[in-house]
Amino acid sequence: MAEMQNIQWFPGHMAKTRRLIADSLKLVDAAAEIVDARIPYASRNPELARLLGAKPRLMLLNKCDMADAAANREWVAAFAREGVRALPVDCKSGAGLSAFLPAVKELLHERLETLRQKGMAGRPLRVMIVGIPNVGKSSFINRMARGNRAKVEDRPGVTRGNQWFSLPGGVDLLDTPGVLWPKFDDQSVGEKLAFTGAIRDQILDVETLAVRLLEVLTPLYNDLLAARYRVAPADAPDAYALLCEIGRKRGMLARGGEVDTERAAATLLDEFRSAKLGRITLERPLEAQQTEKKGSQ
Ligand code: G4P
Repeated sequence: MAEMQNIQWFPGHMAKTRRLIADSLKLVDAAAEIVDARIPYASRNPELARLLGAKPRLMLLNKCDMADAAANREWVAAFAREGVRALPVDCKSGAGLSAFLPAVKELLHERLETLRQKGMAGRPLRVMIVGIPNVGKSSFINRMARGNRAKVEDRPGVTRGNQWFSLPGGVDLLDTPGVLWPKFDDQSVGEKLAFTGAIRDQILDVETLAVRLLEVLTPLYNDLLAARYRVAPADAPDAYALLCEIGRKRGMLARGGEVDTERAAATLLDEFRSAKLGRITLERPLEAQQTEKKGSQ
């Protein structure tokens, strides 16, 4: 996908974000990293783990309503094996969000005890929310804080433009300082971000992207494609032919009777992104992939 290489990812801004995150980490007790549950690898900034260091952390698998339910469970188990609690959440409906406050309190129970011993039992726990653009950070904060922005003079670090939000349950949230870019040098990562719409279409060739999406979906979710578009993905000679078939089935014909593949591509991407095609996860934890391979041999 040659078009993608023209995108500028402002490495200078990353250096600034790195500094802002390092500074802000000193102000918080924990970090909650939000990822897109459909692409938990691709929607992570790979530098973040190192940046967060030993800070206690939680993972939020957001948009779990659009991700494969079985895959959500696999991801929760995979993070648990790494010693990280992951919560599947849906910031659109609010599902799963009631688990957040108890999870923070459990994660920080020693910290809570220390605060109690110091006579600071009323001091809210402070959690930094981190994640690349589009994973749902604002949606999460809005849902949790219900627009309750903390008073500026109440909180540390405000001079650097940090944004604090108070939750009713004794937790303050700090929004990601700066813009945490995804890692874009890996082409498959860029593609997945484009499939989900985290990268805008105008800078990509929609048809190429849709063909790639079909190549990725066919082995994984053949049944969903067949059910939605009344096509037989296994019979199509290649993904482009499958895209034509989808367009034909939907009656998307251009002048002269040819299939309007650009329209078909836009429809496919739109229906994937809005989960009309079904609940789809494009990445499985490594161990799960290996088990699947063994099972199919
Ligand atoms: P950000 O701050 O990390 O950049 O992400 P933001 O909250 O702006 O969310 C990005 C998009 O993802 C928004 O859609 C938002 O509605 C959607 N979104 C966030 N969380 C969830 C979720 O759990 N489930 C689903 N299905 N969608 C979610 P948008 O199209 O940009 O805006 P709009 O549809 O809200 O108007």
